[in-house]
Amino acid sequence: HVNNCVFECVKLAIDVGYRHFDGALMYYNEHEVGQAIREKITDGTVRREDIFYCGKLWSTFHPPELVRLALERTLKTLQLDYVDLYIIELPMAFKPGDEFFPKDKNGKCIYHETDLCATWEALEACKDAGLTKSLGVSNFNQRQLELILNKSGLKHRPVSNQVECHPYFTQPKLLEFCRQNDIVVVGYSPLGTSRDASWVNLKCPPLLEDEVLVSIGKKYNKSPAQVALRFNIQRGVVVIPKSFNPQRITKNFQIFDFSLTDDEMKLMEGLNKNIRFVELLMWSDHPEYPFHDDY
Ligand code: A2P
Repeated sequence: HVNNCVFECVKLAIDVGYRHFDGALMYYNEHEVGQAIREKITDGTVRREDIFYCGKLWSTFHPPELVRLALERTLKTLQLDYVDLYIIELPMAFKPGDEFFPKDKNGKCIYHETDLCATWEALEACKDAGLTKSLGVSNFNQRQLELILNKSGLKHRPVSNQVECHPYFTQPKLLEFCRQNDIVVVGYSPLGTSRDASWVNLKCPPLLEDEVLVSIGKKYNKSPAQVALRFNIQRGVVVIPKSFNPQRITKNFQIFDFSLTDDEMKLMEGLNKNIRFVELLMWSDHPEYPFHDDY
């Protein structure tokens, strides 16, 4: 059911006007996403070059010799010739193998030696081979970005860093660093996540119930979700809202017909709590765990 839902939701999203799709091998739905994109190309709604598909290298494929195989697997599943952006999903490598979450006898994740520069060079080769148009990273902190940017013989720069970003976690320092280095910030969980206790830090209150978002929304006849999304795009942060609901998919795209005043933007910047919804604490003892610093 979920899979058919993904297929229908992606087709609807394209009809509504979405062009950027944030995918991953790890989401186990690239087959359906690819099928939906191809169907909308076949029926003439869009051309391939109108679509922007982001794929992600999962943590069990960091060794350079596995990178291209992982991307080729994604392309084969999507049945597309290239992705528009290929990013390292996490700066933490796990033991390579068939298991996406390799675990020891005690259920603890088995880590792997992490060499982000070596992984990056393998990504560069994928771009040179035409399998992806550009390269980026995700969940990288400033130190990890600098590791790539300062790599000797760097051939292709990371164009984006996908990190958690919304009014309760506004990322002022990382945003400034990325701005200075021409790195686009793509904000995940822009609506404050699904609040699924299995992976979400519920100490952070529900974003969409925030009184400031509600009251600004009333002024423009917009929902708190639309205000939260508008806030990010207006400060140059790309948003990737997730929804499986047709009404909300449609509404989440209706954010280009109003704008927030400077005072409203400042007010919303002030909502920052410096608390992450997505802490990834189960991997906090990994040598490359990115979130020990607050940026
Ligand atoms: P649903 O799929 O039922 O719409 P995020 O993008 O921050 O990860 O948030 C995703 C969560 O937010 C999902 O649980 C999704 O549920 C919900 N959601 C998506 N759009 C809206 C909206 N416009 N208003 C309220 N909740 C939303």
